[in-house]
Amino acid sequence: MTDTESNSQGSPKRRMVLIQTLGFGDGFWSVGTDAADGPMAYPSVLHTVQRCEEGKYDAVFQGDTVQTTPAALRFPLYRSSPFEPITLMSYLAAHTENIGIIATASTTYSEPYNLARQFASMDLLSGGRAGWNVVTSGTGEDYRNFGLDELPSHGDRYRRATEFVEVTRALWRSWDRDAASVRPDRSVDIDPDKIHKINHVGEHFRVQGPLNVPQPAQIDPVIVQAGASPEGIDLAASIADIVFSLQPTPQQGRDYVEHIHTRSRELRPEVSPPIVVAGIRCFVGTTQEEAVVKRRKFLAGIDFEANRSRVELFLGISLSDLPLDEPIPLDRLPDASDFQRHQGFYRRYWEYAVLERATVRDLVQLDLHWVVVGSAQTVAQEMAGRFDAGICDGYNFQAADVESFELMIDLVVPILQKQGYVQKEYASPHLRTNLGRVLES
Ligand SMILES: Cc1cc2nc3c(=O)[nH]c(=O)nc-3n(C[C@H](O)[C@H](O)[C@H](O)COP(=O)(O)O)c2cc1C
Repeated sequence: MTDTESNSQGSPKRRMVLIQTLGFGDGFWSVGTDAADGPMAYPSVLHTVQRCEEGKYDAVFQGDTVQTTPAALRFPLYRSSPFEPITLMSYLAAHTENIGIIATASTTYSEPYNLARQFASMDLLSGGRAGWNVVTSGTGEDYRNFGLDELPSHGDRYRRATEFVEVTRALWRSWDRDAASVRPDRSVDIDPDKIHKINHVGEHFRVQGPLNVPQPAQIDPVIVQAGASPEGIDLAASIADIVFSLQPTPQQGRDYVEHIHTRSRELRPEVSPPIVVAGIRCFVGTTQEEAVVKRRKFLAGIDFEANRSRVELFLGISLSDLPLDEPIPLDRLPDASDFQRHQGFYRRYWEYAVLERATVRDLVQLDLHWVVVGSAQTVAQEMAGRFDAGICDGYNFQAADVESFELMIDLVVPILQKQGYVQKEYASPHLRTNLGRVLES
């Protein structure tokens, strides 16, 4: 848990962790960009990140899947930041000083040795600001890009992920902390006796080691996970520093936090439970009315076909022949017990369809994140309310409109800083220690 100032009893006060998911609407590409830079313009991404650093956000986050479809190409989130995450993050690290940089990478479609090198390098190059969002993939036909004819089962993907992270952490420790040092004459001394093989032999991997990159600045780059199924929650509880949660209602939030804390105490009692960061989409106005108009415009701008196709992807069925405004026939929904893709998203849509008899239009318009609409004061108050109630430890901002993003930094964050919720400065150069997480040797 992270602290800022003390409260009236003198004990450290919990502070809110703020993360920005990168990617905005189509209109955003031109922010801070010259038209000559072309439509896939990285200056707009850099602008976002530098603004987040001004707002003292803890980190920025780049999501990723390893496949695409015609519908996916239409998503604003993708169109405004289509880059491979580790590459993008290395670029961003070179242009920022303090903010944490979290990249998504799949344990299903990579090997621990490769990823351990990449994250170790990113951590050293960024001065200890790297984070890894560990995902097990399972979107669309991603497996066809990796020589497979079908998606490995959900259970197998999670077993592989658990072993993958174990191997990666061992590789990050294959160099002792002081294996590389600078001699008095300023030459570099690398002591082979302080570099060790790991000789891992497991169900999915055989890795001898050692790594060919020195130990990362944070030893373990910050680990992020967002599992929602029982296997996903167990993985998050056993490896994560941060978990991303979807908590549209306070009760769902409470249940999730309780679940993750319980499993974390059972599986990893020696480490404090992961920081729970809830997805939130904020429409901020200088007045309430202005914010409502922004939300309305945002909804009107949603690409219905692309969103329907995303729901289809998460449910694993076609909805295109169904009437838009009639409840979805229940026999259309695949059997939950045999569903191999992301179960968390599937369950949210399934519950909505079954328990609330949602129509296709309802599903397409469902926001998986908590939506807050209001003036800066109202938004700050709402955010503080769920935080104080222990429903989350911070927020993962999702794209709303560009102006709301700017107002969040110019108006909402200063209110939260004044009230002691949000940090005014970065306390440590390392993301891990800034978040109040220990360096595990
Ligand atoms: C905020 C958030 C961001 C996520 N980002 C990604 C991502 O970038 N790539 C990905 O493959 N999955 C991503 N996921 C999906 C999760 O990793 C996880 O698979 C999903 O929540 C379903 O849970 P399950 O795997 O336990 O069934 C994200 C989930 C959330 C809530």
